[in-house]
Amino acid sequence: MELSCINCHSRYSLNEPIYCCRKCKGLLEVVINDLFERLQRDKEWEKKSLSVWKYTPFLPDLSIEPVTLNEGGTLLIKSKRIAEELKLKNLYIKFEGQNPTGSFKDRGMTVGVSKAKELGYRMVICASTGNTSSSLAAYAARGNLNCVVLVPSKKIAMGKLAQAIVHGTKLVMIDGNFDLALRIVMELCSKYREIYLLNSINPFRLEGQKTAAFEISEQLKGNPDLVILPVGNAGNISSYWKGFKEFYQVGFIKNLPRMIGIQAEGASPITKAIKKGESSIERLYHPETIATAIRIGSPIHWKKALNSIYESKGYAESVTDQEIISAQRELASKEGLFVEPASAASFAGLKKLLDFGLIDRDERIVCVATGHGLKDPDIVLKDLEFERVVPDTKVIERVLGLGK
Ligand code: F0G
Repeated sequence: MELSCINCHSRYSLNEPIYCCRKCKGLLEVVINDLFERLQRDKEWEKKSLSVWKYTPFLPDLSIEPVTLNEGGTLLIKSKRIAEELKLKNLYIKFEGQNPTGSFKDRGMTVGVSKAKELGYRMVICASTGNTSSSLAAYAARGNLNCVVLVPSKKIAMGKLAQAIVHGTKLVMIDGNFDLALRIVMELCSKYREIYLLNSINPFRLEGQKTAAFEISEQLKGNPDLVILPVGNAGNISSYWKGFKEFYQVGFIKNLPRMIGIQAEGASPITKAIKKGESSIERLYHPETIATAIRIGSPIHWKKALNSIYESKGYAESVTDQEIISAQRELASKEGLFVEPASAASFAGLKKLLDFGLIDRDERIVCVATGHGLKDPDIVLKDLEFERVVPDTKVIERVLGLGK
């Protein structure tokens, strides 16, 4: 395995502590040169139950025990009520809120933090809209590493803030958005080489995240036709695509799915580029959406994301905040799934694409619900009403309309 620049294809060893190409500053990704041999060598993996570390032949080798909280192995839930209403035969939700800290970030963090330990780092850092910081804080605690996280002030969900703090991380709020926070942590890491960067620019993070694509393929006993994901910094959609391509390369799935990226309308540079058929994005300086997790105007993985969508013959769409909130309520009230607003974007996007007639109703569709709703309860409590009455059975009978 090696690190390869996505632009000029320069190669580096997995043990070089770099995040970008020294020659052209391009992002790096892990390439597996001997996947077939690795699968031949390790036949035991197939018998293991679903989890990130089941897929060791596809993951970077480690000389230490991984720092793990048993991530992955999340449910792929077949929709009943919603699928029936929308006349869809095979609609599934991959519920990534079931990961240890309640989001898909844990898949990448177990690999990234383990690599930090292996390389001998004592301190880790990330910028975050919330979930990355919750996840890094937990894995740093587990791995006994010092941890710093930079988050935008105000626009971060309370649950995520609480998670980061309780794990003992140094949390710094900045008067600026995620894009600025990311720029600052990247500057810090190039100046202070003793700090390890664990945003998704770190190629090991995406290696862990791609295991969700493996799990979906195993859970469906074949490939899905369509995978719909919320997109922010655009690392996750790129890692799913990498995962599906690796499973396809070794013949574990017969076809590749189309990748559909969904962004919030106020933070949708990738959707805009796809709709215009362009090969680069126009950065957005003031992204806005209630789905704070994906409030990102300058996605660092834009190139890979455009590639994943074009190569897979997929599509991108944007959804309004209102559509996101309605989708969140519908998943909760009809399927029993409480997902955070950003995660509901994938389902909101599916509904929009159905309205446009862009989806075949027989296809196997997977909507990825990236994080748990409990992380951001304020958003629900702000609008939803409930009754508050005196503790008296008769009053409550009246409120419930009983015994009339
Ligand atoms: N869904 C949730 C719940 C997220 O937290 C994020 C990203 C995404 C989707 C988008 O994933 O960035 O790979 O396209 N959250 C990051 C964070 C940015 O800091 O927690 P992406």
